[in-house]
Amino acid sequence: MNAEAAPLWPVATKPSNPHDSAHLHVAGLARYADDEPEPADMLHLAFGFSSEARARITAIDLSEVRAFPGVVAVYTAADIPGENNVGPIAHDDRVLADAEVISHGQPVFLVAATTRLAARKAARLGKVTYEPLPPMVTVDQARAENSRIEADQRMAQGDAAAALATAPHRLAGTLRIGAQDHFYLEGQIGLARPGEDGQIHIVSSSQHPSEVQHLVAHLLNKPSADVTVEVRRMGGAFGGKESQAALFAAAAALVTHHTGRPAKFRCDRDDDMIVTGKRHDFEVAYEAGHDDEGRLLAVKLRFSARCGATMDLSPGINDRTMFHADNCYFLPDVEILSERLKTNTVSATAFRGFGGPQGMLAIERVCDHVAARLGLDPLAVRARNLYGRGRDVTPYGMPVEDNIAPQLIARLRETSDYDARRSAIAAFNATNPVLKKGIALTPVKFGISFTTTHLNQAGALVHVYADGSIQVNHGGTEMGQGLYIKVAQIVADAFGVPVGQVRITATRTDKVPNTSATAASSGADLNGMAAHNAAMAIRDRMAAFLAGAYGCAPDEVRFARGEVVVGGETIAFGDAARRAHLGRISLSSTGFYATPDIAYDRPSHKGRPFYYFAYGAAVSEVVVDTLTGEHKVLAVDILHDVGRSLNPAIDRGQIEGGFVQGQGWLTTEVVEWDAKGRLLNHSPATYKIPTASDRPKRLRIDLWDGENLKPTIHRSKAVGEPPLMLANSVFCAISAAIAATTPDKADLPPLDAPATPEAVLRAIAGHRAA
Ligand code: MTE
Ligand code: MOS
Repeated sequence: MNAEAAPLWPVATKPSNPHDSAHLHVAGLARYADDEPEPADMLHLAFGFSSEARARITAIDLSEVRAFPGVVAVYTAADIPGENNVGPIAHDDRVLADAEVISHGQPVFLVAATTRLAARKAARLGKVTYEPLPPMVTVDQARAENSRIEADQRMAQGDAAAALATAPHRLAGTLRIGAQDHFYLEGQIGLARPGEDGQIHIVSSSQHPSEVQHLVAHLLNKPSADVTVEVRRMGGAFGGKESQAALFAAAAALVTHHTGRPAKFRCDRDDDMIVTGKRHDFEVAYEAGHDDEGRLLAVKLRFSARCGATMDLSPGINDRTMFHADNCYFLPDVEILSERLKTNTVSATAFRGFGGPQGMLAIERVCDHVAARLGLDPLAVRARNLYGRGRDVTPYGMPVEDNIAPQLIARLRETSDYDARRSAIAAFNATNPVLKKGIALTPVKFGISFTTTHLNQAGALVHVYADGSIQVNHGGTEMGQGLYIKVAQIVADAFGVPVGQVRITATRTDKVPNTSATAASSGADLNGMAAHNAAMAIRDRMAAFLAGAYGCAPDEVRFARGEVVVGGETIAFGDAARRAHLGRISLSSTGFYATPDIAYDRPSHKGRPFYYFAYGAAVSEVVVDTLTGEHKVLAVDILHDVGRSLNPAIDRGQIEGGFVQGQGWLTTEVVEWDAKGRLLNHSPATYKIPTASDRPKRLRIDLWDGENLKPTIHRSKAVGEPPLMLANSVFCAISAAIAATTPDKADLPPLDAPATPEAVLRAIAGHRAA
């Protein structure tokens, strides 16, 4: 495969190609799972939920549920013919609880009725008798019972304890980092239809159709070949449909299996927020040793994560927390400990950044702490600690070979006018007793690849029809991030045809098998290259055939501008396809790609887990009202590295969306459980995502002008997750504004995330008292 030699039309089209479904999105014509036409005999589903967070089930009486008008069937765990599991790694995620419940809101029984309302009303009539146990809600409670989803993990380089003992300066601190709900616009949904001879077809709003297929096959004791999963698009996912979608597909499949009727589970928003997993919240404890200039000599970090009731994807997520605890900084002697605590709360799961944001925020906090102690600009401390020559090995032993952080930060410092604005803010703060401003520049370095090496593979299927129109299918799913248009561009580019000539089709397990989740930001890297390989295979066959017909060399055949130039003649691409078909040339091909050069030894946490790094930096300026604790993000300047962009408009959308989502995580979105393990924030009334007015008025986004050093597709870089962490600058700016309330204190205000008005007021009071 030779990505560089490919012609640059339509990938380099200016202006960018719009999202392939933009015209359908705005007209309400894009078909989501719930828009599938409903067969007349379709059943609608609802769960009966556990009222306890931790209990033994002693009796279940569902007679009133069954008697409710419209109810057709009611199922419990005993009705599952195969494996009662939707867990992605461990087999510990029950579709329906059996002997015990392990989190509040866990599904206990499943109701199928002729209408959704009937199913929901009937589900409330179930009588489940529990023998409750005291739930483990906090990490402290879990630690006291030695309750973990797996053993503690340790990643280390050098001797952190010895370096700490000899460091000229030492500091220590703690940081709480809150969870986050995905709040996708389209809630969880699964739709099952019976096929012939025991086959089953599922429409799922899932980032991972192959996993849904495999889990349903195990659930029903069927071979995978009898289960087909289809995903045209999701109305947002953000990691929340990587493992969490399977539950609803499994419930629908179970009902279809027993009744022979189509079945749909569309989850209510409040239920969705209670029943499905969220971002992990963390308690972080750190110790650092540094020199007079603020250079980090020793760092010890302990991450304690609330993983919830099952394993889910917690091992990989917590590993990524460790992988990103260095961010852009060289930590010569470092020890990173990670505790993965199993609690009686809904299982924490993937969320944009996959644990990385929490690791990164922790080290940014350490940098801020060092700067506060020494009275330095935090940016000076950050700059002094960046990876550089002779200081380029990560805590997991991987050399950083594509480091552009120093240049990127320097450029943004200049274009954002950071230094002048910092002085202006100091002057403002000196004369304003109530309003305090803060500014911060924080960088991002995000490793690209699944850290579980075998997941870094993808397949595609490309057809050229005899009229020259093209269909592309691949293993990646579309959740609004623009993967489909990027892959369509890549295929159009290979054939030298306009992108409109390429029909994008729904992701289906019967077209491309054994796929990985569309996750880890690697959708375009993996599926784009697989589709490119498929297209090039067909193009090479067409070129060889036409060269034979015209008596020239195959490499003299050119595909460009919708035409094929061969033997001095120019023919339309459609004519070339028709001639190749008449010449009995196969115009269909699969394509495959596996990321090279990656290997990781998990027991020792050493190796090369990432193919490359994506970089970025942001400057955020905020103003805090020190009487109410409210804040406003005034201005944000972003410089972000997407390599050679496959689609600048889509990439900018990812950067803006990621940033604002990160802003919500760190400022307004609160996830809290009460002492009984009940989630307190489960609707927009109590859970606040950013609104249009929270988006900073000035939000400047520039793309770094560079290409990927690695031969990725068109030298592009992944963009899906990294920009979320640019929002760390908002948190650091708020902390700086709070510190301005007592400018003579050489310490950091005790601010936890999210920086809600309450948290800000607590930090102001704590800072004054310290
Ligand atoms: N953008 C939109 N609009 N909607 C989403 O659900 N998910 C994010 C990111 N951007 C998401 C999104 C997450 S968590 C990931 S891993 C990537 O998109 C996945 O897509 P990609 O690999 O194609 O970038
Ligand atoms: Mo994204 S959290 O890897 O789905």
